[in-house]
Amino acid sequence: MAAQAGKLVVVGAGAVGSSTAYAALIRGSARDVVLYDIDQAKVEAEVLDLAHGTQFTGASSITGGTDIALTAGADVVVITAGAKQKPGQTRLELAGTNARILEALMPQLLEHSPEAVFVLVTNPCDVLTVVAQRIAGLPAGRVFASGTVLDTSRLRWLLGERVGVSRSSVHAYIVGEHGDTEFPLWACATIGGVPLRDWAADGGGKAFSPEALEELAQEVRTAAYRVIEGKGATNYAIGLSAARIVEAVLGREDAVLPVSTVLSGQYGIDGVALSLPSVVGAGGVRRVLEVPMDDGELARLARSAEALRASARSLGY
Ligand code: LAC
Repeated sequence: MAAQAGKLVVVGAGAVGSSTAYAALIRGSARDVVLYDIDQAKVEAEVLDLAHGTQFTGASSITGGTDIALTAGADVVVITAGAKQKPGQTRLELAGTNARILEALMPQLLEHSPEAVFVLVTNPCDVLTVVAQRIAGLPAGRVFASGTVLDTSRLRWLLGERVGVSRSSVHAYIVGEHGDTEFPLWACATIGGVPLRDWAADGGGKAFSPEALEELAQEVRTAAYRVIEGKGATNYAIGLSAARIVEAVLGREDAVLPVSTVLSGQYGIDGVALSLPSVVGAGGVRRVLEVPMDDGELARLARSAEALRASARSLGY
């Protein structure tokens, strides 16, 4: 299978970074995949373990190590390094620790790859996008976060399972914070072109009740906590989400994905990074779409923005 041309650097060889590299190798997201970490034993073992399987993947190469020079000339840099949520811990509670790590990393990464697109996965990814963009001084489209791409995938899977339709025919977004204030855009959700609000949930001509919709939203919002309780971290789905984003950039796809960028007035929000359906292609985020929202959704978006603004302010950004 041909691999997308381009060099992907994954920063952090933990569960998320290694899964991102693994997903990129299997999907052919980039021709060259480089895994970088400061823990030599860990990164070398992950690279070896990944390389041993490349007879069964596409043409992508996998290399890596602890030398920051290995990251030079990256087209896309996915940042996964940092502390991860402990059971019951919110993503925002990681802000201080991971902002410090990013402040040390970002200048070095930018020095070695001045033309790269940077994708934040480390949490809280929205707040860290503000930090990274401020440090890098790059246009918002070149420094963004995976945001609610993963949450949107969770929602589409849940809906597809619930109504017995392929998830690829479910079009619904989770927007806002990649975190506790995220919410679904029910107003524009459709299944095979049928508005979700008109969908016969049980075949009896009854659409999903507001209570059923809120239950679905809560199941998505708490999905990560549930997985972390059981296995200590989430990694496969976020790795796949990151690989998908990399493909949209390297493949110049102009695909609409709910990534998180620092807004500049959309919905009256400025200087906060949160997820909205956005056109992702060459050079990163090319456009943030202002999809129709009802008053309730606008209020939730404002609440998400306030929670994120408060967290960024607490870091001095
Ligand atoms: C999750 C992590 C990536 O939602 O925040 O699984």
